[in-house]
Amino acid sequence: MQETVNILLVEDEEAHAELIKRFLERSENFNVLTVTDLKSAINQINNNSLDLIITDYLLPDGEGIELIRLKGNFENDLPVILMTSQGDEHIAVEAIKKGAIDYVVKSESVFQELPRIVNRTLREWNLVKAKKEADKLLTKQYHELQKTNQELDRFVYSASHDLSAPLKSLLGLINVAKLDTKDNQMIQYLQLMEKSVHKLDEFIVEIINFSRNTRQEIEYEKINLDNLVNSIIDNQSFNNNFDKIEFQVSIPDELKIINCDQLRLKIILNNLISNAIKFHAYHRSDIPYIKIDIYKSADQEKVIIEIEDNGTGIEKGHLDKIFDMFYRGSDINNGSGLGLYIVKEALIKIHGNISVTSRSNRGTTFFVELPADELLDK
Ligand SMILES: Nc1ncnc2c1ncn2[C@@H]1O[C@H](COP(=O)(O)OP(=O)(O)OP(=O)(O)O)[C@@H](O)[C@H]1O
Ligand SMILES: [Mg+2]
Repeated sequence: MQETVNILLVEDEEAHAELIKRFLERSENFNVLTVTDLKSAINQINNNSLDLIITDYLLPDGEGIELIRLKGNFENDLPVILMTSQGDEHIAVEAIKKGAIDYVVKSESVFQELPRIVNRTLREWNLVKAKKEADKLLTKQYHELQKTNQELDRFVYSASHDLSAPLKSLLGLINVAKLDTKDNQMIQYLQLMEKSVHKLDEFIVEIINFSRNTRQEIEYEKINLDNLVNSIIDNQSFNNNFDKIEFQVSIPDELKIINCDQLRLKIILNNLISNAIKFHAYHRSDIPYIKIDIYKSADQEKVIIEIEDNGTGIEKGHLDKIFDMFYRGSDINNGSGLGLYIVKEALIKIHGNISVTSRSNRGTTFFVELPADELLDK
């Protein structure tokens, strides 16, 4: 059996009201309650459970439009079909804007059509309602997700910080122990321990960087690129084989001072330069080099940072995956595969891009593109 639809009809012209009621109640499940003015309509809305309102526009004590969104809160709202006389069509726009869901011009043929119009209006109303509810749920879930994300981020950040301090003291103790012993076997063990602690420390730094990149506001400031690149290279000097590498840095005068976010730029350069050092082919006879070239694109729109090495190269099959989280293309190093993922994320923050070309056993070149209008004063 179909559910009863309770309709409130607000119409002061008796003949019209009678006719409409008769047509509507041809549908077995329509139950029509008729009132003749606004005041009684409001009374009915507040005290009865209704499904829909059909109202005349002009009523003895006001306009039918006033019944739209009466309760101000969508769950309790009712769909309203507004009726006007011929010639009052201009009211339609106002009515629809206010939230009337349908609009009809009174005539006998329209009255006959009303059962169909009511059914259509109810269908539309249910769709609108379902969409509103889905939107509400989505907004709620979005806020919950955002909160969980922030909590997770805070947790990762503080856990990484707390792990970092004891590691630093462990490194210090290992160094003291190395000085205290002449036992070669013991020194070898200590060196292995040191290497492991370094690895763990690097991993923690990467996680802290990732977390910083997500949470820290972007802050553009003047940066001396020459100094930045050189200090990043110097910081890598603990790497084995560092001394064997020939660094060639070339930055034209106009690009020596740029505006950029220091944190992100450092993360990007650090990772790319440390990769270029790590993945060198030291067994080959050619001199290992790392070229860092900074220049403007031909159309002057981009500043390009090119980092080229003649190291191990990357096999074709790996090339499109190296920017994925935790992806490592080879076992020759003991990294965690986070570096390039963080580079990509940091570049999103400063509106940049990265691409790569590589030949196995020949070398690799990374191209970082940054928007020139943001980096350079006009
Ligand atoms: N300059 C390069 N030469 C050769 N291979 C590279 C180079 N840079 C990246 N790769 C390849 O891309 C992979 C992903 O690089 P990524 O920096 O993300 O991770 P990782 O260096 O292995 O570890 P992490 O950076 O976390 O210490 C590397 O494992 C390596 O296989
Ligand atoms: Mg790396």
